Order: sequence, then structure tokens, then C-alpha cells
Amino acid sequence: MSRFQSSRCVLALLAAVFVLAGSVRAAQLTMYVNPIEAPYVTECVKEWMRQTGNEVTILTGPAASSDVLALYQQQLAAGTSDVDIYEVDVIWPGLLANHLLDLTPYSEGREKLHTPPVIANNTVNGRLVAMPLYLDAGMMYYRKDLLDKYNKPIPATWPELTATAKAIVDAERAAGNQRLWGLVFQGRAYEGLTCTALEWIDAYGGGTIVDADGKITVNNPAAVQALKEAASWIGTITPEGALNYAEEESRGVFQSGDSVFMRNWPYAWALAEEEGSPVKGKIGIMPVPAGGPGGKSTGALGGWGLAVSKYSKNPELAADLLFYLTSAEGQKKFSLLGTYTPSVVSLFSDPEIQAKNPVAILEVFNNAVPRPAGVTGSKYNRVSSEFYNAVHAVLSKKSTPEDALRSLEASLRRVSRGGW
Ligand code: GLC
Repeated sequence: MSRFQSSRCVLALLAAVFVLAGSVRAAQLTMYVNPIEAPYVTECVKEWMRQTGNEVTILTGPAASSDVLALYQQQLAAGTSDVDIYEVDVIWPGLLANHLLDLTPYSEGREKLHTPPVIANNTVNGRLVAMPLYLDAGMMYYRKDLLDKYNKPIPATWPELTATAKAIVDAERAAGNQRLWGLVFQGRAYEGLTCTALEWIDAYGGGTIVDADGKITVNNPAAVQALKEAASWIGTITPEGALNYAEEESRGVFQSGDSVFMRNWPYAWALAEEEGSPVKGKIGIMPVPAGGPGGKSTGALGGWGLAVSKYSKNPELAADLLFYLTSAEGQKKFSLLGTYTPSVVSLFSDPEIQAKNPVAILEVFNNAVPRPAGVTGSKYNRVSSEFYNAVHAVLSKKSTPEDALRSLEASLRRVSRGGW
């Protein structure tokens, strides 16, 4: 090799080392997260950026689950490499698995720290496609001050809750508080209504739409009774506007002090209790009531995790950040910034989390009812949209519960053709 050739070789080598060092130093990851959680996630990634010297850009879009799914599906179908990590709903692994990276080669067994059902939920055909960030369960918020003022106990059943809400609203309105309603919930035709209505039906013993064996069970007398009760609230204890509410609209009404009860998720606790909130110090939480005396109180099982896009140009680094955020330390920090319930088992009894977050220890997590996402797999989204549209038609009095459930059963049979 001539001197000229060998010095060119050295130069090329140096250039390669430089590019490598440059790319390690300047790697840039992009994450898509829920807008409410973005400030918390931003706080959590800071330490990882400091430790590794990489940059993370946090993107946010719509807050409501169904809107987020539509956006992700568009991006993933186009195979975009612009987003490395997506925050994913617990019901999506079956829908999105083909676009997500199998995290098993990166996990080093760290999934074993988490409660097993959520890891099973996130594993599709043996591929671990997401790691949990937090668990969710539907619950009822109530105005402690108003229940005390009218000497009402915390209701244990839906008929009791309905009567309590009505009595307080009537009395408060008579005294001039025209803005007060009895109950707000997620009544828009979207995934949140699937959770809410599943709770009503479960409370009356009416099953889970499709059972664990894949049988369509939704057309039954207990479900009819549950939907009859719910339809009776609209315009009486619940504003008509609730037919268009997602989580944030419900929280807006409750946090302004304009509803006695609210169905929502744990995140709302931190916000309703923050400095300047009109209801700070005046609220309590309870499970979603049972249908009747001796019945089971309930709450839909939800939650979000993190997944790496199969189209990411930095899968290894993205997996590193993902496991950092979903580790015991990552989940603890996240959980304490808001009021989120961790999925890392050792954190269930963490005294700091329990002190800050009364929501995390509520028995609803033990009684929580899962949506039939596992059993219906990639067809879950169609099942859910048939269900929430049927319920929405009942709430807006376009259909009777009997008719709506009969035709829902027929449509679900069509969706299930060829198997789930
Ligand atoms: C919450 C739950 C999620 C659910 C959604 C419905 O974000 O965590 O699982 O699908 O609400 O609106």
C-alpha cells in the first residue's frame, strides 16, 4: 500500500469514527403521547436525555382514545419513520401488532416486574409489542360536601345514585344553583362510551358484550335493564350535552363544580385536586355502583403502554427509552407527577404512591372488568364501535334498549363471521 493510499485509509477510518460518535451523541427520538400526560412524560425523559446525551421530541395530538387510534393507524399504514415510540391503549395490541416492534430481544426479562395480565395482554402471537406505563380503572367521583350537606350516604347501587343525584339537584336548583347536574360521564359515540356502558351492564350482571370464549352475550335482560336506567338519566340528572362528552368534557363540568357525580379515570383526581380547582378538598372517589343490592361494584379496566414503531430508524435506542420509562423508577416518578396507577408489582405497596394517590389503592382494580379486546383481537375496534353506536342510539332515544341490543347482536354475528 502506498503512503498516499494508507493515509486515505486512515482518513476514511477517522471519518467513520467521527460519524459514529456524532450519531451516538446527536440521536433524536420522537414520541407520541396523550396531551394531558405530555408534561409528565417530558419530566420523566429529562433524566434519560441527561444520562444518554440523546434528544427526545414529544408530540401530542387528540386526547380521546378513538381519535388517537385513527391518527396512529394513518401514520402506521404509511410506514412513517417520523415517530419512534407511540403511547398505546391497552385494547390496541391486537389491532396494531403488525406495525410494532417485538420488544422481547430488548427486555432482558424486565416484563416480569409487571402484573402478569397486562403483559399477557401486550403479547400477541408470542411477540411483546408494548410495555405498560400505567393501569386505569373506571370509577365514580362524588361531591363529598354536597352529600354531607343533604345527609346522603355514598350510594352503593345505581338506583341509589340516581335518587341521590336527583334529590340534590332538585334542592340545589330550588335554591338557585341552576347550573348543577347530578351525573356526567363519557356519552360520546367513541371508546370511552364502550367503557362506561360496559360498566353499567356489568353492574347489572349482564356480561362483557362477548365472553371469554368468544360467545356474543350482549343481548340479555340485564343489559336491557342497565341501558333503560342509563337512558332515563339524559335530560334529568345528566345534561343532553353529555351525549357529546369524552373524558375531558366530563371533567370540565365536574371540576367547575357543576355535577354531583362523575364517571372518569384516576388521572382526573390530580387535576381536580390541584391548586385553584373549584372542587379541591370537596371530592371523594368510589367504585362504579352495583346494579342492585348485593351486586358487584365495578369499573372498566384500561391503561396505556409504550410501543416502538416497526418503522423506527432507532429501534434499539427507542427500546432503551421505553424500558427506562416503564421501569420501577420510571413508573414511580410518572405515577407521582399525576395520579396514575403503576403496573410494576413492587410499587403497589409503595407508601409514597399510596399517600399521594388514593385512587391507586381503590378496590376497583381488583373488581375491574376487561373489555373483550383479547378474544376479538384485530376485530375489537369493530366490536367496540358497533357497541358504542348502539348504546348512543339508546341514550339519544333513537332506539329502545331491546331493539338496539337485538340488532347489535346481529351485527356482531356478521363481524365475527370466519371467527374472531
Ligand atoms: C382511558 C383508558 C383507556 C380507554 C379510554 C377510553 O384512557 O385508559 O384504556 O380506552 O380511556 O376513553
